[in-house]
Parts: sequence; C-alpha cells; structure tokens
Amino acid sequence: MSGSPWVNPITAASRTVPDMIAFPFRGTRQQVITGKSIFLRHPDIADHTEWAALREESQAFLRPWEPTWPDDDLSRAAFRGRIRRYNQEITAGTGFPFFICSGQNGAILGGITLGNVRRGVSQCGQIGYWMGERYGGKGVMSEAVGLLCDHSFRAIGLHRLEAACIPDNTRSIRILEKAGFAREGYLRSYLKINGAWRDHVLYARINPLHEHMGLKAKQGEAV
Ligand SMILES: CC(C)(COP(=O)(O)OP(=O)(O)OC[C@H]1O[C@@H](n2cnc3c(N)ncnc32)[C@H](O)[C@@H]1OP(=O)(O)O)[C@@H](O)C(=O)NCCC(=O)NCCS
Repeated sequence: MSGSPWVNPITAASRTVPDMIAFPFRGTRQQVITGKSIFLRHPDIADHTEWAALREESQAFLRPWEPTWPDDDLSRAAFRGRIRRYNQEITAGTGFPFFICSGQNGAILGGITLGNVRRGVSQCGQIGYWMGERYGGKGVMSEAVGLLCDHSFRAIGLHRLEAACIPDNTRSIRILEKAGFAREGYLRSYLKINGAWRDHVLYARINPLHEHMGLKAKQGEAV
C-alpha cells in the first residue's frame, strides 16, 4: 500500500471524544457511556418520579415536537410499561434508550435513543432525543449525540445512523449538522407529531470507518 499512512477516523475522533465505558449500573444489562460533562445510561423504573417531573415541567416545550402524549403518559403504570418495552428492545438489540445525566450530580437532563436498529444488510439505526427545557441551550444534546454516534459506530458496529426532523426544528437540525449528519431528503407526511402528520427532513451519517473501507474496495485495494 502506498501513500500517507491511513488514520482510523474513529480512533482519531476518540482522542477528543470522551471515554466510553460499560459497567453494571442498577442491574447487569446497564451500559454507561461517559462524556466530558454528561453520561448516558439506560432508564430504570426507579427513575419514574424524576423523569415525570422533568417531562411535566417541560411539556409546553416538548409537545410541539413529539407524538401526542397519552393521557396517562406520566403515570407510574405507563412508565413501567415503557421500561418493560425498553428492556425487550435492549435484549433484542433493536433499541438502546438512554437518559442523559449530569456528570456533576447524576440528575436526568433529557433522553436520547438509538431505535429501529436493523442488522443484516442494513446495519442501520435511527436516533431521537429530547431535553428538559431548563437544561436546553447549553450544548448538552450536542455532546449526547456525539457520544451516541461514537457508541453506535464503535461498540454496536452500525454502518449508518438516521434522524428525521420537522423542517422548522432549527435547533435539532443544527445539532445534526454539527455532528456530521448530511441532509439526504424530504419525507412527506412522515410522522404524526402532536396530532398532525408532518413532513420531515431526513439526515444521515455513515460510519466513517466504513466510508473509508468502501473507498478502498472501490479502488481495488485490500481492506
Ligand atoms: C432540540 C433539542 C434536543 C436541543 O437540545 P439542546 O441541549 O438545547 O441543544 P444544544 O444546546 O446542544 O444545541 C442547540 C444548537 O441549536 C442552536 N439554537 C438554539 N436555538 C436556536 C434557534 N432558535 N434557531 C437556530 N438555532 C438555535 C444553538 O445555538 C446550538 O447550536 P450551537 O452549538 O452552534 O450554538 C431541544 O431543544 C429539545 O428537546 N427540543 C424539543 C424536542 C425536540 O425538538 N426533539 C427533537 C426532535 S427531531
């Protein structure tokens, strides 16, 4: 092989991206991803009170961008069902929900999920996220998206990540573009958000290691 030595873009990125570690946290399947000022961990039934309080105080801020909340959405029973579904998805490897927590005191600041994970020929997943209103505008979600991308590409081994936003969600679009997502298309009447079918813009990011391997394969070099 000739030319300048290849630099693994993921390893190189990780010099500036904080460490990711996995260790037991309130259970054997817990995964904790640590960043500079936050960490990501899976939701737990013990989080109900704190989660419900944050969602309730932020509802005017969140509801315009989310599917309609069922009447009992903040109840303990509904949360228990949510945790049960999350655990099934984690076990099946189809979804990886995380709470975004303060590195200072562990408080829940928001949530971020890698969902709809498809293996086989796709190796693709979709990310979605929300912040508690009082924690918004401080760069927290930008850090969380960076951590989840790194985890999805390095630890889970996905090839492609997708995210869809309502076109006028400028904050969300800014986060994705900063994280290296590219706009790929316009999805008409894609998701029912706050009671109405809304158009979305589709953003995607390809695993940088795989992009490089694809290029090498096209050039006929050994990978
Ligand atoms: C979108 C959301 C997750 C952003 O979280 P956050 O922690 O505030 O995001 P960050 O602080 O990391 O970054 C926000 C970026 O948008 C920018 N921004 C903030 N308000 C903006 C506005 N009105 N117009 C354009 N850009 C804006 C910020 O300046 C920042 O960019 P910068 O780092 O270049 O300065 C949060 O606002 C939220 O939960 N909104 C409601 C739910 C939602 O929209 N979910 C996503 C559905 S796709």
